[in-house]
Amino acid sequence: MSDLRLPKAGTIEVVPSILSADFAQLADELAVIESAGVSMVHLDIMDGHFVPNITIGPPVVEKLRQHSKLFFDCHLMISEPDKYIEHFVKAGANHITFHIEVTDEPKKLIEKLHKLGCTAGICVNPDTPVQRIEKIAPLCDMVLVMTVHPGFGAQKFMPDVARKIIEVREIVGPDIRVEVDGGINPQNTPTVVSYGADTLVAGNAIFSKTDRIAAINAIRDAAK
Ligand code: DX5
Ligand code: ZN
Repeated sequence: MSDLRLPKAGTIEVVPSILSADFAQLADELAVIESAGVSMVHLDIMDGHFVPNITIGPPVVEKLRQHSKLFFDCHLMISEPDKYIEHFVKAGANHITFHIEVTDEPKKLIEKLHKLGCTAGICVNPDTPVQRIEKIAPLCDMVLVMTVHPGFGAQKFMPDVARKIIEVREIVGPDIRVEVDGGINPQNTPTVVSYGADTLVAGNAIFSKTDRIAAINAIRDAAK
């Protein structure tokens, strides 16, 4: 475990998702986004069960940790987070988000993460109402609102679903981060920021561009 901290709520953070990066060049991709001055990177962990895609596990996170000082924001799209969170923390995760759809004991998971020295996040799928996390959201360090169905990068942003950010921000107040993930680009950034999001995950909008740094700056500028 490194001693990196989740930035305090309130500042806008653009968080590149490496799902659309070149997986054969991940260390270099991390170095490029780090040089753009981002503090966090979003690692999408998929198990082929909760979502119809498979990505990376703890061994890859562990190797990336040796190449990067970025804060590792790990988004677990897996069916049994309880089984694996300790492995991800040991591998170098700084923050772990799990989905409310896969557990009846979210409080236990949040406590476990905090005990492991990791900040905790809860996530709602587009079809899951915010009411499902009403009680648990204030115990988290960050709440993640999905604006695409999880599983793949480069999908289309769902504008109606994004309005859930307003509800989440009302529930958690100003001191907890609200992250939005799925189809974020410079065009929809002003909307999600006006709804209350301060943590903007973007995969395709950054890694489909040759100039990743310019792409990050375009989202930052749109958030102002
Ligand atoms: C989707 C992932 C997202 C995705 C974001 O299942 O959770 O993090 O990589 O990528 P874009 O910005 O391309 O939607
Ligand atoms: Zn994600």
